[in-house]
Amino acid sequence: MTSSVDTARFGGDPNWWRQASVYQIYPRSFADANADGLGDLRGVTAKIPYLAALGIDAVWLSPFYPSPLADGGYDVADYRDVDPRLGTLADFDRMAQALHAAGIKLIVDIVPNHSSDQHPWFREALAAGRGSAARERYIFRDGLGPDGSKPPSDWVSHFGGSAWTRVTEPSGEPGQWYLHLFAREQPDWNWDHPEVRKDFETTLRFWSDRGVDGFRVDVAHALAKDMSEPLRSKPSVADELTPVDGKDPIFDRDEVHEIYAEWRKVFNEYDPPRSAVAEAWVPAERRPAYASPEGLGQAFNFDLLRADFDSSQFRTIITRNLAQAEASGASSTWVLSNHDVVRHASRYGLPDGLDYGPWLLSNGTEPPVDYETGLRRARAATLLVLALPGSAYLYQGEELGLFEVADLPAASLQDPIWQRTGQKRKGRDGCRVPLPWTAEGPSFGFGSDGAHLPQPAWFADAAADLQDGQEDSTLEFYRAALKLRRELQGFEELTWVDGVSEGVLHFVRPGGWNCITNFGTNPVEMPSGTVRISSGPLRAGALPPETTAWLSQ
Ligand code: NOJ
Repeated sequence: MTSSVDTARFGGDPNWWRQASVYQIYPRSFADANADGLGDLRGVTAKIPYLAALGIDAVWLSPFYPSPLADGGYDVADYRDVDPRLGTLADFDRMAQALHAAGIKLIVDIVPNHSSDQHPWFREALAAGRGSAARERYIFRDGLGPDGSKPPSDWVSHFGGSAWTRVTEPSGEPGQWYLHLFAREQPDWNWDHPEVRKDFETTLRFWSDRGVDGFRVDVAHALAKDMSEPLRSKPSVADELTPVDGKDPIFDRDEVHEIYAEWRKVFNEYDPPRSAVAEAWVPAERRPAYASPEGLGQAFNFDLLRADFDSSQFRTIITRNLAQAEASGASSTWVLSNHDVVRHASRYGLPDGLDYGPWLLSNGTEPPVDYETGLRRARAATLLVLALPGSAYLYQGEELGLFEVADLPAASLQDPIWQRTGQKRKGRDGCRVPLPWTAEGPSFGFGSDGAHLPQPAWFADAAADLQDGQEDSTLEFYRAALKLRRELQGFEELTWVDGVSEGVLHFVRPGGWNCITNFGTNPVEMPSGTVRISSGPLRAGALPPETTAWLSQ
């Protein structure tokens, strides 16, 4: 089957995703066309000229499905529809067509580990009671203790608290417990159930038939679980504690790949095959299995989210990930920001190794961000990443140089992490504040009736309209870098140039493209060649501190 519309730049190239620049849209916070304070699909469509001018190859759309929004849409009540607050299926089709007409591919988020507690199958499971077939689609267990009042295991939710919630049976009695690795409104699916498997394949075909080019797979490493009794103890979900033997009770079990082998068959029914990228928080050496061509094909490499602005950390991460991608037949992925982490312009303006939890609780005051350093380093890191082989995943607003909104008032917080940790961790709302499109006007041009998270006054200075056409602006810098990056795409090789000054990374790409980053605090000598772009101002013959430059021969 072929998608109804073909795209200009890649045509039917089955490898379009390998070197793509992918722009993540968090739809509720992107652009609001219907004036209800929530971004929507018509808002996305209206901004396609902006996206095309930015020079991205694909959009990854975070969940836009009907959802009670217990976790920003990652609690899906209907996998095959559009949230009425965000639009209709017809709006989706118009958006997909308009993106394709602009030469932009479309990746959608798919959330297979859990649904919303408002999904009809979960409601059916609650109503049907203990021992029913409907409960088999989720993970229900009796509690421990004489009256079953203790959770079936010590498993914990990623958002804090127990991963089990007790239900009230239709009789009114306290009853069984169900598993939710995230919020209690996000019950985990039972992937041993054939109907669950079949239903997800139906969903993959549903969106593929509508012309979707690929999928971003949420929590891809958690679907297969060892539920054999007695349940094994696992009192922490810290991913660095997950063993690499594929035998953890919850995460990264070897069997999970059987699911993706089936999905691959579905993807390959299409021409070009649909692509997929796994969100799998697994140790680096376990990543290739998710990225294999018989599986999802690509996996996120989140290593840079945890790295300092440091040349040796960057070099180690780059080397390792390129080698792994090659070994698995995938291409690597590069991520500096997304909707789950503190924006990289803020991270780089804070001390190395900082715990962002207490920092957010202090409203971003302890310690304060060094904004100048943060943005200078963010631009240098971005330009480096854009020079690498592999796909670059960019998060909406980073092209405006946005910082984390660290001082959101407690009353405005939406992330379930805030309540589930007893208000000890503020969570991820600070990177999800609706974008500033204009320096003036209601909600900085996001929409005409406010924004669902409060926007700070400093958004006026970062607004897209103010940066448009300004040579030194971060927006124009991204546009220029993404345009030049197209000259590098199609090649996957990188050669390090060794013997450069300490704290400097220098590599060459095919065609004589050089990328050099000075992570240090003193200027270094610039290699020979014509400077095509730099992340900050240059001085004759020298590369200033915390700056990246691309040169061609
Ligand atoms: C990962 C998503 O990126 C995050 O936003 C979400 O809260 C969890 N998965 C649960 O779906």
